[in-house]
Amino acid sequence: MSEWRAPARLPRHVAIIMDGNGRWAKKRGVPRALGHRRGVEALRDIIRESSDLGIAVLSLYAFSTENWSRSSEEVGALMGLVLEFFRREIDELDRNGVCIRILGDVAGLPAPQRDAVRSAMARTARNEGLRLNIALNYGGRAELVRAARTLAVAVRRGELAPEDIDEERLAAALDTAGQPDVDLMIRTSGEMRVSNFLLYQSAYAEFLFPSVLWPDFDREAYHQALDAYAARERRFGGRQDKGE
Ligand code: IPE
Ligand code: IPE
Ligand code: MG
Repeated sequence: MSEWRAPARLPRHVAIIMDGNGRWAKKRGVPRALGHRRGVEALRDIIRESSDLGIAVLSLYAFSTENWSRSSEEVGALMGLVLEFFRREIDELDRNGVCIRILGDVAGLPAPQRDAVRSAMARTARNEGLRLNIALNYGGRAELVRAARTLAVAVRRGELAPEDIDEERLAAALDTAGQPDVDLMIRTSGEMRVSNFLLYQSAYAEFLFPSVLWPDFDREAYHQALDAYAARERRFGGRQDKGE
């Protein structure tokens, strides 16, 4: 066990863009699918650690709406890992009180994955521990479009007036309805872009871009990120007068 102590100021909502599996594999001369497999191992530890630390919400970017454009071999490997993850992990996640939610268009997933994620959500819906959001077939723009449609339907039915649409109503129509905004957004592998992840919810998130590739992101790297977050000064557009 490490001597590390969780900082007093923990983020409520941590979002992670798990990037760098392909480069991890390339560096070792092994197939990309192996990099993804090691990536799943890394995420199991980060989920456990988030639970242990009492993080309220953890959002993991697993597959974007743009990732369908990868080779069918790679898409197949990733979809296979999705099934394997739920089959292997669901008992432990449930036992630990983790509540699973899928962000993204579940209806657009292949049938086996769709069934697996729906049953995981149903089984853990009443759990009160870590809220684990897994973004699958997710894009921030697509999510906003779906939310706009939901609100438009409510207006057409006469349940909502256009002038009643405010930031809160829009947030409530997103896949993260009822959850706090992202406090800390981490993207591994040194890439510094948001790649369509949680565009609305990360308006005032703190961003960290550690250079470590995702399969190597371990508890220690996570602790470093949480320490860096705790040292940040958040302003939300206001001023933080230091008593001068
Ligand atoms: C992230 O790793 C996993 C997914 C996008 C599914 P990548 O596969 O993007 O890895 P790199 O960016 O090629 O290294
Ligand atoms: C973002 O990573 C998506 C996931 C981690 C699931 P990508 O590797 O797909 O993003 P780009 O193409 O580098 O922006
Ligand atoms: Mg990538």
